[in-house]
Amino acid sequence: MQDLAVDADQGWNEVPHLIRCGRTLGDPWESLFGPLRPSSVVVGQLGQSLDGRIATEPGQSTLINCPEGIAHLHRLRALVDAVVVGAGTVRADDPQLTVRRVAGPNPVRVVIDPRGTLPAESRAFAADGVHRIVITRQQCRSIDGGIEMIALPDTDGRIEPSAILDALQDRGLRRILVEGGAHTVSTFLSAGCLDRLHLTVAPMILGAGVTGLDLPPTALRVPMRAHTLGSDVLFDCDLRSGESAGR
Ligand SMILES: NC(=O)c1ccc[n+]([C@@H]2O[C@H](COP(=O)([O-])OP(=O)(O)OC[C@H]3O[C@@H](n4cnc5c(N)ncnc54)[C@H](OP(=O)(O)O)[C@@H]3O)[C@@H](O)[C@H]2O)c1
Repeated sequence: MQDLAVDADQGWNEVPHLIRCGRTLGDPWESLFGPLRPSSVVVGQLGQSLDGRIATEPGQSTLINCPEGIAHLHRLRALVDAVVVGAGTVRADDPQLTVRRVAGPNPVRVVIDPRGTLPAESRAFAADGVHRIVITRQQCRSIDGGIEMIALPDTDGRIEPSAILDALQDRGLRRILVEGGAHTVSTFLSAGCLDRLHLTVAPMILGAGVTGLDLPPTALRVPMRAHTLGSDVLFDCDLRSGESAGR
């Protein structure tokens, strides 16, 4: 298992540029981020406790992962064209979705808010020079302030993840991070829309709280590489080479 904390920032500043040019990354980044080099790739991420919780009982997710684990999330943001979160994450965490802990460009921020219920003051919608997109159902209210609204068809309130990715691809957004929360990552995963999953496990037992992946019964064994990030362990799972182990 490679310990990325050892080489924390060594050569990092070049990585967001190199990955966009399709070039090989220097050590220690190639083994971790090389799989995200294809110009079209969708990676899901969740930070969770040993007992599979991605937030404490009041819904707080920021206390789970160590600083190196959180820096990893910010690095992922710096490598993608767009970061996608569900409305539940904006309601619970009011995240900024920026790369403020590492060097690199901020991604386009995409919020799936099918019912158009989120306040315009949410930090993900802040007018800070980054393009912001809201995915809604058709005939939903618009938010003022230069935010692009993309209205997509739904079935009983559910918008197909593939339709969301198509709409982003039409806008040139092809390297995508599906950052959370549980519902959104699970929905993209079960729709077969994730190429990779970065699961960062912290040595904590919470006993209660928000459950992470929530899928229909399955038995999918996936090729995986583990990396240590400070006290956390990152499982980088290749969801395209997985084979069903259900027999
Ligand atoms: N540890 C981590 O890595 C991490 C990361 C992010 C979030 N979190 C935690 O996760 C929790 C929130 O997770 P969550 O599962 O409740 O919410 P979520 O996944 O953030 O958002 C779910 C909501 O987003 C909308 N949505 C997402 N995909 C949709 C689709 N395909 N079609 C239609 N609507 C869609 C729906 O909005 P409506 O509800 O408006 O219908 C849905 O209920 C919070 O406690 C947060 O702290 C943890």
